Amino acid sequence: MNIIFNKKSLPTADAHVIFVYANGKLSDSASKIDKATGGLVKRAIIIGHFSGKFGQIIDLVAPENLEINRVLVVGLGRETEIDILRAQKIGGKIMAKLISSGDEQISIAADAPARSNISDAEFAAHMALGIRLRRYRFDKYFTKQEEAKKPSVIGVSIMSASALNAKKLFADLDKVADGVEFARDLVTEPGNVIYPESYAEKIKELSSLGVDVEILDEDTMEELGMGALLGVGQGSACESHMVIMRWQGSENTDEPPVAFIGKGVTFDTGGISLKPGSGMEDMKFDMGGSAAVVGAMKALAGRKAKANVVGVVGLVENMPSSTAQRPGDVVTSMSGQTIEIINTDAEGRLVLADALWYTQDRFKPKVMLDLATLTGAIMVALGQEYAGIFSNNDALSEKLTEAGRQVDEPVWRMPLGNAYDKQINSKIADMKNMGGKYAGSIAAAQFLQRYVNDVPWVHIDIAGTAWKTETSDMADRGATGYGVRLLDQLVRNNYED
Ligand code: BES
Ligand code: ZN
Ligand code: ZN
Repeated sequence: MNIIFNKKSLPTADAHVIFVYANGKLSDSASKIDKATGGLVKRAIIIGHFSGKFGQIIDLVAPENLEINRVLVVGLGRETEIDILRAQKIGGKIMAKLISSGDEQISIAADAPARSNISDAEFAAHMALGIRLRRYRFDKYFTKQEEAKKPSVIGVSIMSASALNAKKLFADLDKVADGVEFARDLVTEPGNVIYPESYAEKIKELSSLGVDVEILDEDTMEELGMGALLGVGQGSACESHMVIMRWQGSENTDEPPVAFIGKGVTFDTGGISLKPGSGMEDMKFDMGGSAAVVGAMKALAGRKAKANVVGVVGLVENMPSSTAQRPGDVVTSMSGQTIEIINTDAEGRLVLADALWYTQDRFKPKVMLDLATLTGAIMVALGQEYAGIFSNNDALSEKLTEAGRQVDEPVWRMPLGNAYDKQINSKIADMKNMGGKYAGSIAAAQFLQRYVNDVPWVHIDIAGTAWKTETSDMADRGATGYGVRLLDQLVRNNYED
């Protein structure tokens, strides 16, 4: 889909979008269309009980003299309440309405609301981001699709008085959207397409953006002593990998990096502690944490962020087989700490243990953030709205919480503490890989904390937010790409030159 910005204000497309504010106040462009149609817009507002509240839409067949198919009258709500997130969401709502309308070209009269908190350019550019992200579909495996369900929109022209500035602003957001869509693709691909080897190859594509990509094989990881990660992959026919992505965007090459670490279990059967069959297909998404890291690296490199960032992802497949690890096995992690495997389905923390240790040991990062679809328990606690965060550092948690608010990828902080940590002491090794009956997400986080030393660190449990069963304003149902924008915003706010 092509998105352009220009200064025109008259309809040029199959579908023309105009805005109305709270209490039915027409924008200038809406007034123009109303006049050109002999009062059609005002009549529709009255007949359709349209108040102009945020997100309200009426879809009008255009009169013949306009030479377009339809006019979409869209409510923006109170002018003073319009902000960046509302601009994004209204873009998403417009796209949701038109995506399969049959119309190919959309023009949007993006008159910026005079009394809002954002500039004309911001209004137009952020609306474009919402339009792009909501247009995303993963339909490559359909060999036939009903015409009425196929996305029809191929071009969007956003008309703004600040078209040039909007275009500049969007160029940057467009790179972030590239990262989000890359993450969504990776998460949606099934386990027979994305497995550790093929996934590592896919990540190599980031080299073309200037990201240095290094792939560790099993022999190397064995030499490094990564017994925790390797144990998870040992039942799979696929070789495990760790992939290290480095983006050196800061002028100061010696500046310690920000580190992102991701759980990349390309399929989680549970291993010998096999999961129930029903719904197991969803476990292709168990590399969602790593996809967020890969997507964020793509976004940062794409927009040439002035920061040093390293991404580390542990890629394994968790399978049951005669070579799989057993409950009761004891493995030695790269840190030297030993782990009793109680449940082979609590595998993500084992992968992250070695990835976290390796990252802090090799890169001495200023902060570390890990993302993982780690526990079903976080969905019980927070549903699909918030990701759960766990941290040893209040300042970093607050920075992340603020970034989450800004991009509407919200996080909610959960506690850590000695009382929880005791749960994972083992009778035979330094620790075991699961706690008791309660607080499963915290037990998992306590486990990870034993591998971070004193580096300021946040663990983000995205089991609830990586995949959504319902559509939202910014995404079709399915993989959300959650985490890409969150990490990008965190870097923007805090770590660029
Ligand atoms: N990948 C799962 C977490 C998960 C489960 C995400 C359901 C989304 C939906 C993880 O590897 C896992 O299986 N965790 C176990 C841990 C338990 C065995 C201590 C869980 O959450 O049940
Ligand atoms: Zn599992
Ligand atoms: Zn898992």
